Amino acid sequence: MARQRWASRTVFLLAAVGSAVGLGNVWRFPYLAGKYGGGAFLVPYLIALVLIGVPLLMLEFAVGQKMQRGAIGSFRKLHPNFGSLGLFALMSAFIIVSYYAVVMGWSLIYFLASFGVKWSSDAKSYFFDSVLQISDGVNVLGGINWPILWSLVVVWVLIYFCVWKGTTSVGKVVVYSVPLPIILLGVLLLRAVTLPGFFNGWKLYLTPVWSALVDPEVWTAAFSQIFFTLSLGFGIMVTYASYKNSEDDIAKDTWLTALINSAISLFAGFVVFGILGYMAGVTNSPLAELAASGPGLAFVVFPEALSLMPLPWLFSLLFFVMLLSLGIDSAFSLVEALNATILDKQQQGNVAKVSIGVCLGGFIAGIIYTTRAGLYILDIVDHFVTNYNLMLVAIFQSILVGWLYGAEKLRRYMNQVSDWTVGKWWNFSIKYLIPMALVALLATQFSKDIRTPYEGYPAWALGIGWAIVFLPLLIFLSLLVTDKTLINGRTD
Ligand code: PHE
Repeated sequence: MARQRWASRTVFLLAAVGSAVGLGNVWRFPYLAGKYGGGAFLVPYLIALVLIGVPLLMLEFAVGQKMQRGAIGSFRKLHPNFGSLGLFALMSAFIIVSYYAVVMGWSLIYFLASFGVKWSSDAKSYFFDSVLQISDGVNVLGGINWPILWSLVVVWVLIYFCVWKGTTSVGKVVVYSVPLPIILLGVLLLRAVTLPGFFNGWKLYLTPVWSALVDPEVWTAAFSQIFFTLSLGFGIMVTYASYKNSEDDIAKDTWLTALINSAISLFAGFVVFGILGYMAGVTNSPLAELAASGPGLAFVVFPEALSLMPLPWLFSLLFFVMLLSLGIDSAFSLVEALNATILDKQQQGNVAKVSIGVCLGGFIAGIIYTTRAGLYILDIVDHFVTNYNLMLVAIFQSILVGWLYGAEKLRRYMNQVSDWTVGKWWNFSIKYLIPMALVALLATQFSKDIRTPYEGYPAWALGIGWAIVFLPLLIFLSLLVTDKTLINGRTD
């Protein structure tokens, strides 16, 4: 069976940008910037982008495009034992999509609630008590929260119809779903700059607190944000690139994807901080606190800000349509990564059937987050997957390409096909810089998690978090070493 193809280069770029641009850009990036030194946060962020993000994205694009397979098949072609690294990446993808879809489910509920701006009297209590109906702690599951479960069903149906014809349906969707949230961000920016106080928000966003740069936590936050935002370490970018022709450009596509993605993050920062600046003035609350409100930013602080402006329902609708359209391309990119690998293995693969299986699996795995303890579980799982699994996959990926396959070999391939030349610096980054920086990062995070239990959760709950790291790691390592080809050498 012929491999699926993108309709054009633009469609590929839209799909890659769509995966990269997500909640991470409008919610995670601004709150990290607020928390870690405002304008100064841009320093570690941009360093991480150029030294690690771009080289790794290039690696993933090059591997997928050259090998013409999903994550498992591509890594196996790099080295016969390393198919299991693809499996490791896909396990992370599956875990993430199962909760990412739940966050989209919350957005859907807020979208419907926008018509009456239902949170206007007390945004915090609306989120925790009305929407989540949150239990007292992670040990009280408290049964299923049905509205969230139903919205999760809707989200999965939407995801299904984006991927059910593979690159053909994805190609049709991204033409709308990628520009739409960017246009909506633009509308919200216009709204922000016509509100009093927006400039105070911008000042906080852009004024660098240089002292933040001596804090290692700021650096870890910047590096892991780059990973998350570029969708690295999930096998997604490998998969998307495998639907290109093997003579297509790589270097330019990488830079375009990475720069557009970061530009949207910076842009989103102006929107978020502008609106928070307005809100701080109206409610007389300290701006810095609002900005650093963390995960609650999208579902508590921002809805409250929207309820304070003229025509609150309209801007709330726009905001939540934006969140949904932002999230959907990221969510289905994870499904695509899983689909591709399954389809690689089947002679007569049927995309629609495989998609049903994957979507159903993702939905079932997500049910746990629709319980009343869902937010706690989500928080724990997210912490471990993003801080450990992704980093581990990336470290092994760079060792695999840098040391076993040969960075120079892959670089030569990139230069044969690319419009822009990739210099020798790339080999250095893949072989030395990335593994060393990521090991350091991992060690810092590990020692922190050992010293202080994350968010004070009970040991058994954090144990589940550790299991999410170590089980996939052990599966990967045991498959890696038990494969006889390791002893017999490579077979191409
Ligand atoms: N890149 C997405 C974002 O910034 C997050 C994501 C990562 C989504 C991996 C899917 C897969 O929101």
